Amino acid sequence: MSAFTEANRKAFNDLSASYNSKPWQHKLSQQVSDALQQRRDWLGVRWTKADDGGRDVRLLDYACGTGAITKALGPYVTTIRGIDISESMVEKYNEAAQSSGLKPEQGSAVVGDLLSEQVSPQLSGPDYQLFDIAVIGLGFHHFEDPALAIKRLTERLKPETGVLVIIDFLPFSDELAREREQRQQTPSADFPDMSHTIKHSGFTREQMQKLYEDGGLEDFGWHVLPDLAVMELKSGTKERTIFIAKGRRSPTSWGKLRNWFGSMQAQMAGQLSLEPDGRYGS
Ligand SMILES: C[S@@+](CC[C@H](N)C(=O)[O-])C[C@H]1O[C@@H](n2cnc3c(N)ncnc32)[C@H](O)[C@@H]1O
Repeated sequence: MSAFTEANRKAFNDLSASYNSKPWQHKLSQQVSDALQQRRDWLGVRWTKADDGGRDVRLLDYACGTGAITKALGPYVTTIRGIDISESMVEKYNEAAQSSGLKPEQGSAVVGDLLSEQVSPQLSGPDYQLFDIAVIGLGFHHFEDPALAIKRLTERLKPETGVLVIIDFLPFSDELAREREQRQQTPSADFPDMSHTIKHSGFTREQMQKLYEDGGLEDFGWHVLPDLAVMELKSGTKERTIFIAKGRRSPTSWGKLRNWFGSMQAQMAGQLSLEPDGRYGS
């Protein structure tokens, strides 16, 4: 684990007990949850339906924390796997999942890092592959290498249909520098300084689209939430603008060939359409 990831692990371990304790934290989770649920169709995932005949719909909640994304999308999927580098966050996640009635095989989290050089064998089995949707909720700006994160999560999506969703902040660099300064003047015991865990002070639409396209995702989509996220830190009230980015995993080479062949067949069938007397016409 890199020193930066280790700093994240430690900071979020320390923060886990108070992560969901403040009204602004509840409000932020609710904002993200409402936005995801309202834009469910737009996300383009094949969600579970009552008449689906037991089809498994799989969610990967990466950097899951205590489970805000799982709570928002849980009702529309059948299997959920959470991964986070902080063992205390994972503990909280699993407590919440259990008390909401989820069995571990339906929804549970493990400690792990898909962004390390060597990914643990535990995360290489079939239980951590072929997801219908992978989501990173407010974790992307904490990652050292965003391009690697997109690559590693895209590999775990179902080819052609799996969707990667990232919820994060528009650029806030000036804000972050000001916050660092203020924290040095007014250190807070109540809400610790997390600035050393932040690698990127937000992302633009252009940056995200390029990351998605370079990472092998198609049909890029972008939505900016109309209401600002307000965070009540000891150093003052901070405002951020939240975006949702989405993209679908491209087909494999074999899939592309199959699609091309299918469209050729459809074209030929159209040209050889049957006449009313049963003869082939053109
Ligand atoms: C701001 S919290 C977001 C948690 C949750 N997704 C939510 O929406 O409330 C960021 C999370 O990212 C996790 N994290 C940071 N770096 C990570 C990495 N390399 N791999 C997995 N999780 C990571 C932290 O431990 C923390 O739980």
